[in-house]
Amino acid sequence: MNMRQFKLGPMENFSYLVWDEDSRDAAVIDPAWQPEAIADFVKAEGLRIHCVLLTHAHPDHINAVPFFTAADKDLPVYLHEADYFMLESRPPLLRTVADGEQVQAGALKVGVLHTPGHTPGSVCYLAGDAVFTGDTLFIGECGRVDLPGSSAEALYDSFAKLAALPDEAKVWPGHSYNGDTSTFGVQKEYNLYLKLARQGRRAEFLKAVA
Ligand SMILES: [Fe+2]
Repeated sequence: MNMRQFKLGPMENFSYLVWDEDSRDAAVIDPAWQPEAIADFVKAEGLRIHCVLLTHAHPDHINAVPFFTAADKDLPVYLHEADYFMLESRPPLLRTVADGEQVQAGALKVGVLHTPGHTPGSVCYLAGDAVFTGDTLFIGECGRVDLPGSSAEALYDSFAKLAALPDEAKVWPGHSYNGDTSTFGVQKEYNLYLKLARQGRRAEFLKAVA
């Protein structure tokens, strides 16, 4: 498994490409803002995009989906169905993801962890030791829970789930807030929210995110 991080747009969003080294089969995660940068890389590296994976449906993470679905009408777009209500228009081939599922993108397999809280359909994607955390977990921070469909209680449960991931797993967040990447080992120690969830301190977590 190989991956590339793209910092794009006015809100320091991250889009990602993840691919199988041998087959060059790839998936694009949260395409937004400047899809040409991603497309140029795909071309230069000889990758073949098999699907779009969305961590959630906020516009700053999905506004370049039409760029990719226009180029390939058979391109599936994966999004947890609990976030469908936020879509202004539906991609032609929209498919839901479920917790624990593996999405097959050619020879590449990507795992799904349902992590509601920031939005009801927020998910993290797992590939090798990489965890693409969208707006659920940032470096030293957690996602906002003051938006339509947000839930601090659900975010606590999601952080408890994330705290069980191995220390060597890498965090690849949805925005460049406080940093671009880290490990779960470091975040369990220095990310207040992950630390509280790991220690089962629910009431303090809910107070901290309020
Ligand atoms: Fe978001």
